[in-house]
Amino acid sequence: MLTLSGIAKSYGERTLFAGAALQVNRGDRIGLVGPNGAGKSTLFSLILGGEPADEGQVSTERDAVIGYLPQESAPVGEETVLEIALDVADDFVRLHRIIKARETKHQVDSELHEESHDDVHERYNELNGYLVEAKAKQILAGLGFRDSDLDSPARTLSGGWVMRAHLARLLTQEPELLMLDEPTNHLDLESLMWFQGYLKGYPGALLVISHDREFLDALVTAIVEIRHRRLVRYTGDFTKFLAQREAADAQHLAAYNAQQKEIAHLQAFVDRFKAKASKATQAQSKIRQIERMDKLDPPESDDRKVGFRFPQPARSGQKVIWLEQLHFAYGETQVYRGVDLEVQRGERIVLVGPNGAGKSTLLKLLAGKLVADQGERVLGHNVAVGYYSQYRIEMLEPGRTVLEEALDTDAKVTEQAVRTLLGSFLFSGDAVFKRVDVLSGGEKSRLALVKLLLDPPNLLLMDEPTTHLDMSSIDALVAAMTQFEGTLVFISHDVHFIKTLADKVIHTAGGKLTPYLGDYEFYLHKTNADSERAALTAGTGAEAKPQAKVSRPSHQEAKQIRSDLRKQKKLVQAIETEIDDLETRSAAITKELELPETWNDGARAKELSRELKANAERIEALSSKWETEASRLEPS
Ligand SMILES: Nc1ncnc2c1ncn2[C@@H]1O[C@H](COP(=O)(O)OP(=O)(O)OP(=O)(O)O)[C@@H](O)[C@H]1O
Ligand SMILES: [Mg+2]
Repeated sequence: MLTLSGIAKSYGERTLFAGAALQVNRGDRIGLVGPNGAGKSTLFSLILGGEPADEGQVSTERDAVIGYLPQESAPVGEETVLEIALDVADDFVRLHRIIKARETKHQVDSELHEESHDDVHERYNELNGYLVEAKAKQILAGLGFRDSDLDSPARTLSGGWVMRAHLARLLTQEPELLMLDEPTNHLDLESLMWFQGYLKGYPGALLVISHDREFLDALVTAIVEIRHRRLVRYTGDFTKFLAQREAADAQHLAAYNAQQKEIAHLQAFVDRFKAKASKATQAQSKIRQIERMDKLDPPESDDRKVGFRFPQPARSGQKVIWLEQLHFAYGETQVYRGVDLEVQRGERIVLVGPNGAGKSTLLKLLAGKLVADQGERVLGHNVAVGYYSQYRIEMLEPGRTVLEEALDTDAKVTEQAVRTLLGSFLFSGDAVFKRVDVLSGGEKSRLALVKLLLDPPNLLLMDEPTTHLDMSSIDALVAAMTQFEGTLVFISHDVHFIKTLADKVIHTAGGKLTPYLGDYEFYLHKTNADSERAALTAGTGAEAKPQAKVSRPSHQEAKQIRSDLRKQKKLVQAIETEIDDLETRSAAITKELELPETWNDGARAKELSRELKANAERIEALSSKWETEASRLEPS
C-alpha cells in the first residue's frame, strides 16, 4: 500500500537518506528504529508529503487511508477531548455538537438552528455516530481519561494528554495504515499496557517508531532500521532483529579485527627493523604487503563513550527532604492520606506502584510544584530542588542554537565545558549550531538534560527522564547520574535504567508508601509480577519468582572490563618502555665497543659483549611477550 524507492534527503551537509527503499503491504506490522536524529520522523514526513525528498519516489495506493500521530503535539484550541477523538470524518464534530447542544437544551447559534432536527440526526446515523461515539469513549477510557475529562477544552491539558486524545482519534478512525511516531512517550504504564493490547488486535497495517523494546516485541513482525542512510528490513520482532544484526556485525567485526591484527603484526616488524640494514628489504616488502591489502571499513560503533566529569552540586545536609502526614486530593479523588517520607543525602530512589497511585503526584509534591492539603514538607539544610520532566523540552527557545541554549545557564562554566558536555550527549561538531526548532525529539530531550546537568541541583526529581532517548543517550544519562553526588528521586519505565541507578525502591499504592531498602533486584524478589516491567506497577506481592535475565553487562561488570583494560594497557606500555631502555643501552654499548680504548681493554670488551648478547636475548623475549599482550587489547 506504500512504496518508497531511491529516496535521498539531506539537510545541508548532513545526509539522512541515500537510495533508501521500503515497501509496506497490507497486514504489515513494522517497527521503525534507529538512533536519535537518524531520520525516523523525517521519513514519516517524507511519506506524508510534509517534506519533499531530494530524490526518489513515494507512492501510496490510491484511496488508502493513512492515519498519523506526530512525535510532538501541535497547538490546540477550544475543542474538547471528546471532540478531538471524534474528529474522524468531515462534519462529524459539528453534527455531534448540534446533537449534544440540543440534548442539553443549550442555546445553539443561528446557523445551527437552520438545519432541521431530522437532517442532522439522519446524517449522524449515516456516519454511525452513536457507535463511533461509544467506541471513542471506550478508547479514551483505555488511554486513561476519566469521564469528567471528556468535555474539558484541550488547551487546558498538558501536551501528553493532547497526544493521547489524538491517539484516541486515530484508533477510533481505524485507518488502513497507522503511522505512529513514538506513541508510548506520553503514556503511563497502565495505559501503555492497554494500548499495546489494543494494537495487537488492530485490523490495519502498522508502521511504528519506537525506542521501547518490550513494546516492539509485543507488536511487530518486522523491523526496519535506518542504517548507513538506507532502510534495512529484518523479519521478526525487535529481539530477533538485534540477534540478526549482532550476527552480521560480529561477522564484520571478526573479519575487520583479523585484518587489523595482521596489519599490526606487519607494522610492528617494520617499525622494529626498518632502521636495521640487514632487515631493510624484508621491512620494505612488509610495507608493500600492508599497502596491497583490500582494507575493510572499521565497524561503526554505536556507543560513543562519555569521558566527562560532570559538575557536582553543593553538598546538602544529611536529611534532604521529609514529608509528614501529608494529605493530597485532586478534587474528589484522594491520592494521599497521611504519608510520611524521609530522604537521606545520596539516596537514589525509584518510585514504583500501580498507575493512578500517584507517583508523579508524589514527585510534584516533593518538588513543591503541588501543594499538600494538609501536612508538612520540610527541606533539609542547603537543599536546592530541581524537577525534570519530559515537558522541559517545551521550555527550550526554538530560535536559538543548541550552543546558545546550553550557554544560557546560571552556572559558571566555560564554553569549552559546555561543549564537552554537549559532546557527551552526542552533539558534536557542527551539531551545536543547529537551531532548536529543527532538533529531533530525542535531541531536544538531550539538550534539556545537558542544561540540567550543567548546573545540577543537589536534590534531583525526575519524571521519566529517558523518554525520547535512544540507547546511547540513555547510557550517557546513566553515566552522568552514576557520577551525581546529590540525591535522586525518579520515576521510569525503563527497567535497565532503574536497575543501574536505584538503590532504594518506594512502592506507592492505596495512598500509602512502602519503602524497600534494597535495589530493584531486591524489590523484584519481593513481588511476584510476571515480568520486570509488570513489577513496576505491581501491588505488594508475597512470593519471589525467578526473573528473566538482562543481557547488557551490569554496571559492575562494565567497570571491571574497563579496569582490566586499563591494567592491560599499562602492562603493554611497561614492556614497550623496557624494550626501549634496552635498545638505548645496546646502542650505547655498540658505540663504546667501537672506541679504540675499548679494543685495548680486553676485559671491558668482553663484559660489554656479554651484556649486548644478554640484551638482545631479553629484547627478543620481550618482543614476543609484547605481541601476546598487545593482541589482548584488541576486541575479540
Ligand atoms: N529543517 C531542518 N534543518 C536541518 N536539520 C534538520 C531539519 N529537520 C530535521 N533536521 C535534522 O535531521 C535529523 C533527523 O531528524 P528526525 O527528527 O527525523 O530524527 P529521528 O530519527 O526522528 O530522531 P528521534 O529519535 O530523536 O525522534 C536530526 O539531526 C535533525 O536535527
Ligand atoms: Mg523522531
